Amino acid sequence: MGSDKLILRALAGETLPVPPIWMMRQAGRYLPEYRATRAQAGDFLSLCYNSDLAAEVTLQPIRRYGFDAAILFADILLIPDALGMDLWFVTGEGPRLSTVTSEAEFKALKPADSIHDHMAPVYETVRILSRELPEETTLIGFAGAPWTVATYMIAGRGTKDQGPAHALKAENRVQFQAIIDRLVDATIEYLSRQIEAGAEVVKLFDSWAGSLKGQDFDDFCVEPAAKIITALKARHPDIPIIAFPREGGDRYIGFAKATGADCVALDNSVNADWAAEHVQVDGCVQGNLASSHMVTGGQALVDETRAIVEAFCNGPHIFNLGHGITPDADPENVQLMIDTVRAG
Ligand code: CP3
Repeated sequence: MGSDKLILRALAGETLPVPPIWMMRQAGRYLPEYRATRAQAGDFLSLCYNSDLAAEVTLQPIRRYGFDAAILFADILLIPDALGMDLWFVTGEGPRLSTVTSEAEFKALKPADSIHDHMAPVYETVRILSRELPEETTLIGFAGAPWTVATYMIAGRGTKDQGPAHALKAENRVQFQAIIDRLVDATIEYLSRQIEAGAEVVKLFDSWAGSLKGQDFDDFCVEPAAKIITALKARHPDIPIIAFPREGGDRYIGFAKATGADCVALDNSVNADWAAEHVQVDGCVQGNLASSHMVTGGQALVDETRAIVEAFCNGPHIFNLGHGITPDADPENVQLMIDTVRAG
């Protein structure tokens, strides 16, 4: 089943003369139009659950830059919210959640297939976007990977070293595994509905994969991703899936084969020439310009962008940053990156 959409062609394994491009966190605080819509919504979570406004902020970077893909505006922490945990965002600090570490707290979580009423506004955002996006733009849905979402559920907040999640894993493996399993099931349900609503690609964000070592990486990054991807492909055989085991280092090697992902997203700690040789051999890769270039711009941005395009030019590649764009980025540097990629 061929498509004219560049992102879908790259995900199907085609080497394109110019890589398609989108950007993690492309709808975000670096854009004045995002800040205005967010102010209108009141706060971040209200924006996530307001389908019209969430669709609006998703479309803003498409209008401004003409990216090849739009990513649904939502957050990976909506799943714990839908499972019945408390979730709120503290301005300037980040997310806060009620915690789940004991058996009693785990038992209070809702079943995986009961999240859909809570998530109805997100599915509606996807439906609006699939009607309103330009025909050449691919719509990407997403969820957090179980390990990354679990680190927030166990600690009740973002942590530098994921200490509380590692501690629960060491002290009560059964409880920890149960949390991961619930997240695997909820993620399959959630992404399946996004696909039914019109998402053409889905992406799994494992932002803290890098803190899993050895067998833990296999058990809590590779295995949950493989289960989710296998289940989604059974229900939706044509859906392309991007996996992002951030800071996976040499564990990027073989990750697509081990999980069934169609594309592996690379963070900027891996060298592009190395990744072309060891990761892109298995299929499409996405990445991996350091997001700091969106703050600093100039010739270094141009040189590094060209080097990444060049490194990946002999195989399927989707250009992106190695992590989300930051609020202090200059919108003109984004345009410079796009112009540099598209100049060929
Ligand atoms: O990429 C996109 O534009 C799609 C939307 C998206 C958001 N968050 C919007 C958001 C996606 C894909 C995410 C993923 C996400 N959320 C991750 C994984 C990817 C990553 O960045 O590592 C994580 C760990 C979260 C959890 C989360 N959400 C944190 C830790 C924070 C606070 C940090 C911060 O940047 O303020 C958020 C808030 C958040 N999610 C914002 C956006 C645009 C900023 C909120 C605001 O407007 O104040």
